[in-house]
Amino acid sequence: MADPQLIDDVRAGLGGQPKSLAPRWLYDDAGTALFDEITRLPEYYPTEAERALLAGSAADVAEVSGARAIVELGSGTADKTMTLLAAFDAAGLLTSYMPLDVSTEALDRAAERALERFPRLAVAPHLADFSGYLPAAVDPQPRLVAFLGSTIGNFLPAERRAFLEHVSASLRPGDSLLLGTDLVKPVDRLVRAYDDPGGVTERFILNVLTMLNRELGADFQVDDFAYVPLWDARNRRMDLRLRARRSHQVRIPGAALAVAFFEGEEIRVEVSTKFHLDEVGAELKAVGLEPVRVYSDDDFALTLALRTP
Ligand code: SAH
Ligand code: AVI
Repeated sequence: MADPQLIDDVRAGLGGQPKSLAPRWLYDDAGTALFDEITRLPEYYPTEAERALLAGSAADVAEVSGARAIVELGSGTADKTMTLLAAFDAAGLLTSYMPLDVSTEALDRAAERALERFPRLAVAPHLADFSGYLPAAVDPQPRLVAFLGSTIGNFLPAERRAFLEHVSASLRPGDSLLLGTDLVKPVDRLVRAYDDPGGVTERFILNVLTMLNRELGADFQVDDFAYVPLWDARNRRMDLRLRARRSHQVRIPGAALAVAFFEGEEIRVEVSTKFHLDEVGAELKAVGLEPVRVYSDDDFALTLALRTP
């Protein structure tokens, strides 16, 4: 039986106009492996930029937040997170770590990694959608919610606001959020990061069609779609789309849907918003999260914000 949320999302996203799919569906096992490959591409600068910032700031994050539990939203395989956990471990603070993700593959790796490195840590992996999850029951306090990788950039503005409100509402005064955001930079560098010459990102985005064929019995011919990574200057975001190469129809029996595509019609699969530092701070303040530290370079920023009373 297919995931009812997938069925609803496909009906809403491919049943209407303009067509779209939610980015969370990119991360089946194959998608998780492809994303991992993306993080090792020389063109995809965010991972190494954030890793370097974490290395320089983790001890300070531990001291300022004083957190005893870390909840990591969209942890992926938690490779970079080990730097953060190590600093908390060295400060003798941390007792629990909850990686949260929709990918079982990523979550297994994250938990395995954390336990191997920190055997005394209570590691509690949680398979869930971060849009609906409230880490209210996580103990002990204070807690730090980590949302790294600039995954926040994958929301549209209204979704981002709702998500930040939701995270803020789930925190108590004294809890904190560590947020990774990719910064606006020259367009050629941005486009290269999403259009690598080896085609790894193209395969990552096209893989969503293969997933729909497997999970919902759809008959997408992957070759009928071209990967189109666009820079949307007005909204300062990469807009990653799949464009139909010819007019045709696709059946998606698992969602009781038949979808007609005209030649050139696009499905938006993901946006990846790039930020200016001041707007990150303003968006956090607007939901009751007070930025207390910003660790940044020209490429990337980590903001530590405290939940205000
Ligand atoms: N934090 C890691 C991984 C980023 S990739 C890093 O910085 O490298 C984005 C991760 O978020 C993936 O592991 C994906 O499975 C997860 N994800 C995407 N949408 C999600 C959702 N709605 N709920 C929970 N996890 C989600
Ligand atoms: C997870 N997320 C922040 C990545 C990004 O850069 O927006 C996903 C990604 N899509 C294509 N390449 C990487």
